[in-house]
Amino acid sequence: MIRHLIAAIATALALWAFWFMAQQDRKAERFQHIQALIQKTQMEKVHVSNTVQPISKSESPNARKSVKKEEDEAAKKLKALRERAGNVMAFKVSPLYKQKCSSCHGVNGEGIIGPKLVGLSEEKIYQALVDFKSGKRKNYVMYGLLSKMDDQQLKDLSKEISTFAAKAKAAGN
Ligand code: HEC
Repeated sequence: MIRHLIAAIATALALWAFWFMAQQDRKAERFQHIQALIQKTQMEKVHVSNTVQPISKSESPNARKSVKKEEDEAAKKLKALRERAGNVMAFKVSPLYKQKCSSCHGVNGEGIIGPKLVGLSEEKIYQALVDFKSGKRKNYVMYGLLSKMDDQQLKDLSKEISTFAAKAKAAGN
């Protein structure tokens, strides 16, 4: 009799344990499900924030405008520089001027990085060159360049450049 009772209790316990484990499984399943749900919403969040970003960028049209303005200005400057640099020669110049001076002062002395030379007198140009060469007038670029030239070349260049204004006028510039 007692044996039966024990067996019954054992069976009940076993059943209960079985049920309990099943419950745990269900709980675990539910937990997994919830976790999956959370992950999904997080993914949605990421997705949403991705689509939101470009919108928030366009929220500051002023910043965009100023960037565009800067770009426009840079493009304009570049265009002006190109037009100058690509300036077709209005009149022929000596090989010496073309080689040594035109890159900075322009193909016809109109000025690019270096100042415009058109319109300067022969004396003024020669004086400037002599002063650059001696270091009296301090300019590192002109000094370095002229140190390799002799006085006759400076005179020739001064004479030539002083004719640029008349030549440009004759060429219709
Ligand atoms: C690498 C660029 C560069 C080259 C090449 C160059 N120059 Fe210059 N030159 C300058 C710059 C910059 C100045 C302005 C310097 C200053 O005023 O201090 C200048 C100034 C001058 C001036 C004085 C203009 C003025 O109004 O006072 C004369 C003249 C001159 N250059 C002639 C020449 C001659 C001639 C050559 C060729 C042998 C030559 N340069 C080559 C950059 C250059």
